[in-house]
Amino acid sequence: LDNGLVRTPPMGWLAWERFRCNTDCKNDPENCISERLFRTMADLVVSEGYAAVGYEYINVDDCWLDKERGANGQLQPDYSRFPNGMRALSDYVHRLGLKFGIYEDYGNYTCAGYPGILGSLELDAQTFASWNVDYVKLDGCYSHPKDMDRGYPEFGYFLNKTGRQMVYSCSWPVYQIYAGIAPNFSSIIEHCNLWRNFDDIQDSWASVESVIDYYGDNQDAIIPNAGPGHWNDPDMLIIGNFGLSYEQSKTQMAIWAIIAAPLLMSVDLRTIRPEFKAILQNKGVIAVDQDPLGIQGRRIYKKSGIEIWSRPITPLQQNYFSYAVAFLNRRTDGTPSDVAVTLQELGLAYPGGYAVEDLFEEVSYGVLSPETKIKVKVNPSGVVILRANIHLPRFQSQNQ
Ligand code: GLA
Repeated sequence: LDNGLVRTPPMGWLAWERFRCNTDCKNDPENCISERLFRTMADLVVSEGYAAVGYEYINVDDCWLDKERGANGQLQPDYSRFPNGMRALSDYVHRLGLKFGIYEDYGNYTCAGYPGILGSLELDAQTFASWNVDYVKLDGCYSHPKDMDRGYPEFGYFLNKTGRQMVYSCSWPVYQIYAGIAPNFSSIIEHCNLWRNFDDIQDSWASVESVIDYYGDNQDAIIPNAGPGHWNDPDMLIIGNFGLSYEQSKTQMAIWAIIAAPLLMSVDLRTIRPEFKAILQNKGVIAVDQDPLGIQGRRIYKKSGIEIWSRPITPLQQNYFSYAVAFLNRRTDGTPSDVAVTLQELGLAYPGGYAVEDLFEEVSYGVLSPETKIKVKVNPSGVVILRANIHLPRFQSQNQ
């Protein structure tokens, strides 16, 4: 969607994967879906340094609504959990210098059974604008996937008509794929800033692996759809929760960066351990994700449990790109695997060579020619991610 927003993939925090539909504020006041939870997370995004590295959106997901619409048919939060209303929460988030996102559903109900927008599209778009919402995730439960080709653009039209700029996150293709309908991606690209095309992520390595495989196996169809303002969404980062080891967490971060994914953390920022926080705040990996060219990367090698993924990034020189390259070890046989390959074999052929650095280990390989063999050791279910920048002679880089 060409609305000037998310020219690089959105970054932020999203409640769903970690906090789900916990509405029990009586017994679990600190973890229920409430004003308090979002204020706390917004505070921590700033105070713990996430905002400084680019995380920006604080996104509410399902279960914020009252089961009934208000007297004039407007959406309303469950006031027992959002006592000051959504505009006050949005103002709070904005005062911290962050942006505010909300969740709704194109159908009769949200996935968790709260009122959907069907029948009230224009009113609900206006309501969101009046709350100064910056980002809308529109889910697709309790609707007919074949209606979405009309319905998602229609709601986008009403969002646009409010005059407020809002990122539009769609679940349109995933519901169509599940229903056996081939999504019309040219229309999805035109109307949405990002879209889900695969299963909900869960708190496990198996779930992360299934997403990685989906993106690799379907890459020729998926990659051309991504670009500035329109992104494939492989779902949230689950780093720092219960299911991923340290190695697996680096793998999720690296692959999400290679595939130009939105970086939406879903984790308890009050209790996250420092090593996971460091992964989420790795500036080098974030820079790969946020590369201005917005080209989604691909799996270029897969054999005996070893995969290599690469993404063209800046700086450019003539027709040559720089690259981020991720080596994955999907093996489970317990010892690190050695991978040795020349830059040329990875498709890195710029005659002037590349300045190569490891993004998690802070190792610099110096400037390497395309014929140079690089050797990496990749831990089981782990990753090594390198950045290989085109080596520009000094006088040229100064003139750029
Ligand atoms: C769907 C979405 C999830 C989440 C839940 C909420 O499953 O795909 O991301 O929003 O609904 O109920």
